[in-house]
Amino acid sequence: MFILGIDTSCDDTCSSIVEDGKRMLSNIVSSQATVHRSYGGVVPELASREHIRNIVPVVRESIERASLRNKDIHAIAVTVGPGLVGALLIGIYFAKAFSYAKGIPLIGVNHLEGHILSIFLEPKIPSFPFVALTVSGGHTNIYHVRGFGDYTVLGQTLDDAAGEAFDKVAKLLGLGYPGGGIIEKMARDGRVNAIHFPRSYLSKGSLDFSFSGLKTAVAIYINKWRNNNDNKVSLHDIAASFQSAVVDILIDKVIAAAEKVGVKTIMLAGGVARNNFLRNRLKEKIFGKGVDLYIPQPELCTDNGAMIAVAGYHRLMKGHRDDLTLDARSRFPLNQI
Ligand code: KG4
Ligand code: ZN
Repeated sequence: MFILGIDTSCDDTCSSIVEDGKRMLSNIVSSQATVHRSYGGVVPELASREHIRNIVPVVRESIERASLRNKDIHAIAVTVGPGLVGALLIGIYFAKAFSYAKGIPLIGVNHLEGHILSIFLEPKIPSFPFVALTVSGGHTNIYHVRGFGDYTVLGQTLDDAAGEAFDKVAKLLGLGYPGGGIIEKMARDGRVNAIHFPRSYLSKGSLDFSFSGLKTAVAIYINKWRNNNDNKVSLHDIAASFQSAVVDILIDKVIAAAEKVGVKTIMLAGGVARNNFLRNRLKEKIFGKGVDLYIPQPELCTDNGAMIAVAGYHRLMKGHRDDLTLDARSRFPLNQI
């Protein structure tokens, strides 16, 4: 069964074909980074306009790369939220039109469920239950995943998402957008202990996150550092010390979550899961503890249509279908699917 998966939740126009919920035949992502770069973040109105321009060629390319034709597609899955409403609507209206024209099922998908299920596109897949950390530009959540469609939130950010903190710090340092990958590169030549930035753990045993204090601490530090012309600390040191603070918090909380629910499998998802410092640190931390770690390949960590096709496939298998009243949802907690 071939499912076309579409995601236009933020600033990437994504389309992919996945066979039987596991074999990715194509995965096209048209990035808008150059459009938003000069603003240091995503401008919703510009994102919608770019999606309008990109959606038809991106979908067409995903079907061609899969060596299929429109008539071969069995169902279409599309992200309905959470995300930017204007951006989501482009994908949703395209999907409705395609489903109506071809007479095939339409399935609305929660973007966060897509991130969690991205791991099912890999050759080695986890068995249920597992704990998933979805960490991206818009989200930082920990879920107890018991099965397809069976998710409980164990923790979430109370303010900024981790990726947002990376993007904001990169902007403060004048490094460009999106900031995660750039900070990671800069940090390679820096000292993780050069500056001790605060790590907010909230109350004892809490699995929630807060990154706004860290972001403010970095902003204050950069200001002083610039004014004092302090050449004992480099830009690389600031990047490395900041990255290390974020990674410590993420790792400690996801391990604590797994212990709390008595689960021996952890998975990471979302754009920040591309970060090699995070991936390697977590591997070191769980070494010898009998915990299995699953992280999708980098292309499947950031937004993509393949993960939406996988989630759509499992929803379809459970008999779920949407009709032409399907609408966008800027907020869409995973326990509401
Ligand atoms: O999952 P994603 O593509 O979009 C959202 O759903 O938000 O994640 C994008 C986020 C951005 O904040 C970006 O800076 C971050 O992922 N990111 C990274 C890295 N690559 C992307 N953060 C840290 N290290 C990276 N290598
Ligand atoms: Zn995402």
